[in-house]
This record gives sequence, C-alpha cells and structure tokens, in this order.
Amino acid sequence: MSDSIHVDQAAIAAGAALLEAGTLVAFPTETVYGLGADAENPQAVAAIYAAKGRPQDHPVIVHLAPDADLDYWATEIPQEARQLVKAFWPGPLTLILKRNAHIPDAVSGGQDTVGLRCPSHPVAIALLSAFKGGKGGVAAPSANKFGNVSPTTAQHVRDEFGDMVLSDAEMAEAAHAAAAQQAASAAGLRLGVLDGGSSQVGIESTILDLSRLATHGPVLLRPGHISDQQIADVIGKLPSAPDQAAPRASGTLESHYAPRTPVAMLSTAELANTLSQLEARGRRVALIAWSAPAAAGPCLHLPADPVGYAYGLYAALRTQDQKGCDLIIVEAPPQDSSWLGVNDRLRRAAFGSSGIVEAFLRAK
Ligand code: TXA
Ligand code: MG
Repeated sequence: MSDSIHVDQAAIAAGAALLEAGTLVAFPTETVYGLGADAENPQAVAAIYAAKGRPQDHPVIVHLAPDADLDYWATEIPQEARQLVKAFWPGPLTLILKRNAHIPDAVSGGQDTVGLRCPSHPVAIALLSAFKGGKGGVAAPSANKFGNVSPTTAQHVRDEFGDMVLSDAEMAEAAHAAAAQQAASAAGLRLGVLDGGSSQVGIESTILDLSRLATHGPVLLRPGHISDQQIADVIGKLPSAPDQAAPRASGTLESHYAPRTPVAMLSTAELANTLSQLEARGRRVALIAWSAPAAAGPCLHLPADPVGYAYGLYAALRTQDQKGCDLIIVEAPPQDSSWLGVNDRLRRAAFGSSGIVEAFLRAK
C-alpha cells in the first residue's frame, strides 16, 4: 500500500520541531489527514479546537509511534486491547481506554478515557517517531473545519485552512528549533502541512471502546475499514452498538462529514426517473454513482467495491460540492456489512438534507 510514498526527512524534522514548539502540523494518515498538536501541551491542543471551530468538549485521538508505551497513556488496559494492538497497529483502529491521570483533560474532553491509535502511513510513522524521540503523542482530529468533509489529500487541507497554512519556506526555517519557537509565538494560528499523497483507506478509523469492557463488552463507536468481524476474530467477542452511556464521539453526531451542497441518496432503481424529473424542473444535479450509467450533469463513478469506494468517497464529495449544483445525489451503495463504514459516512453527509428531493419535485 505504502511502498511508493516518499518520506521527505527534512519536512519530517521541520514538522516534529513545529509540534515540539506547540505549533499545529497537519499530516497524512492512511485514513484521512490529521490536524496534529502535542497531546501533552494543553495550549497546543486548544489551538486545534480554535482552528477547526470545534466544541471544546469533544475528545481528540492521540496518535502514537509504533513502539510507543501504551501504559504511559492508558491504565487498566485489558488483555483484549493488547491483542488488538498486536493485530492491527499500525493501522486504522482507534482504541478508547481509561486514561492515565497525567494525560491532560484537553485531549479527552474532560472524560476519563483516551482514544489511542498508531497510524500506518509512512509519513505519519516518521513524524511520530521523530517527535519527542518517539515518546510523545500527537492529538489529531481530521484536518477539516468542524462538520466538513474530512481531507484525504494535502491540497484538501490547504483548501480548508487557506492563509493559516505555513509556506514551504516557513516550514523549512522551522527545522531549527529556535526558529520553530519563534514561529510558534509570532504566528498565532498557523499550521504546517506535510504532504503524503492520497490517504489510502479514505474514511476515518474504526473506533472501539474498551474502557467499560468488563460491564459492557467491546462497543463500536464508529465503523471503519477494520470490521467488527475482524475484531471478533482477534478477541472472540463481537462489538455491540453504542448505548446511551457510551463515551461521546463527535464523528457520531448525526450531521457530520457534510459538503455545503445538499446531499441525497437514491436507490439504483429510482435514480434514472428521479434524475429526469429534477432535470425537467431545471434542477442541476451532481451525481456520484457506482453502477448507474452517467447522467446529464456532472457525474463521478466510484468503484463497486467498498474499499475502492471509501478511497474515493471524500474527494468525490469535495469535487461535486464545487460544481455549483442544487443537489448532490449519491446512488446508494449495497447495504451488506462490508459497506458499513461507507454507508455510515454517507448517511451523515445526507442527514441535514432529508426530504430535499421531494421538496424539489413538489416545487413548480
Ligand atoms: O482516522 C481517524 O481516526 C482520523 C485520523 C486523523 O487519525 N482522526 C479522526 O479524528 O477521525 P476526529 O477527531 O475527526 O474523530 C475522532 C473521533 C471523534 O468522534 C471523537 O469524539 C472520538 O474519536 N474520540 C476521541 N477520543 C475519545 C474518547 N476518549 N472517548 C470517546 N470518543 C473519543
Ligand atoms: Mg473528523
């Protein structure tokens, strides 16, 4: 998956120096790009919330280097957590565990848990290994403004944060620790961006809560590339759906990952007819299809398998969002469990727009 990705050591050194100085650094992971800050520097973590426009009480995932010490970050770690780490790290699985007392409140949104993950992208691994000599943790939500579609390329991150992004020259200067200190204090809300190509998985990590294992068993807070069956194969227990008392996960807000253009999902069977009715009413539609033939307006096709579809999904939503259409219509993918992560993200993208197709069809 990652053999061909070039790791620019100078950029990694600059990124690590910026993080150590308390500055934000966006970096590629195999799922989506993250907006990183030193997890043990509450001011730096606060800058993430400010940059994203995200509520302060939402916890962020702490990203660790491959040989990090789990016991430094978490406590009461169940055997199942260690089995899953062995099986899936580095990789797209986040574990929610009881947080160690010295881990700042800022990363956990005041909860008594911490989300930990070791990403597999070579640029992320290089950054995490360089930062504090591999002993630090990088708090990183997806590198998008709150509620927006997650970024899967460095350009998506630049599109989200515009003028806040440090130039290559500013990044290079930051390789010297003193300059990084200066950049951090003088720059206000700025961020460095490391480029690592397109994120291979394309949707956010699977989040599994193991913090209440003894009483509630493993709980799946967010579906992703690693399926509940794969988890069950390792720990012998199938994760259950979240209950009322489960730790909060902002990726589980109903409306999330949404483009500005309204999004509606239609089954393959109803697609052609509805598209022609919308067209007859002068509505411009951008289509994201996987099996249906191309339509009159802007149309993108994603692969008919869940892995390929997830890889292309967020870029497709961004592209179609820029077409200035009245509506993005997504041909609903299959419903079987291998499509769970994809369908979860699509449902959230369409959440705020329910009833819009009907409203357009009723209008003259
Ligand atoms: O793939 C990913 O997980 C990406 C990349 C950058 O690693 N990160 C990501 O972060 O999606 P974010 O902040 O957009 O979503 C993280 C989710 C949120 O829903 C957050 O509430 C949840 O993880 N989370 C983090 N720590 C938690 C905790 N202690 N308890 C419950 N949920 C937690
Ligand atoms: Mg996010």
